[in-house]
Amino acid sequence: MTFSRTMKIAPSILSADFANFGQECRAIEAQGADWVHVDVMDGHFVPNITFGPATCAAIRPHIKGVMDVHLMIAPVDPYIEVFAGTGADVLTAHLEAGPHIHRTLQAIRGAGVKAGLAINPGTSVDLVEPLLDMLDLVCVMTVNPGFGGQKFIHSQIAKVARLRAMIGDRPIHIEVDGGVTIETAPLVAAAGADVLVAGSAVFKGGSVADPAPYGANIRALRAAAEGALGLQ
Ligand code: DX5
Ligand code: ZN
Repeated sequence: MTFSRTMKIAPSILSADFANFGQECRAIEAQGADWVHVDVMDGHFVPNITFGPATCAAIRPHIKGVMDVHLMIAPVDPYIEVFAGTGADVLTAHLEAGPHIHRTLQAIRGAGVKAGLAINPGTSVDLVEPLLDMLDLVCVMTVNPGFGGQKFIHSQIAKVARLRAMIGDRPIHIEVDGGVTIETAPLVAAAGADVLVAGSAVFKGGSVADPAPYGANIRALRAAAEGALGLQ
């Protein structure tokens, strides 16, 4: 996984057919996805439950590129090793998930995986600053985590811009997660995000049997984001 700030579209399989994850992962990659975003929820840190490490390990062979695992679980530390063992490329933990985020990030890198830090809409971006040297990715939540299909929270855009300035030349990705559409993608791209997670905006209108709409949706998101950077 080499670092680049080029725009990446990361479909969230939260919006995929849960009975067909393998095929869905293959379909989105064939249709142009850069990363595959995998949302793990525990019904405790967030009010919804998805799946755990066994599912992550089962889908890994169906993903050629980056498997980006977003851990919405608390506690998180006891599970880092097992999630690292699934073959995830990035493990992202929430700053709000416990009192010892520094230890959590050490454990993720110690397990040989890229370390991501997610911050909820109510969390100040200033809290990321002391952790920058331990990070490969910061995920700015633009909805409250737990569900797909929620409305983008515009006040978070300023956090992306602030983070972009804070990061400078460090090889740290800025990911935005929640409510990303062709309307909001240009806003976060212009502010400095380089990984756009999108669930509903990618999977709408398509299926494993008819995956072409996934491709059209991914291309539309990329065009909207790159257009804001003057690249299209
Ligand atoms: C929300 C998840 C997101 C979600 C995004 O808790 O972390 O990854 O799937 O879904 P959309 O793009 O539909 O807002
Ligand atoms: Zn997510």
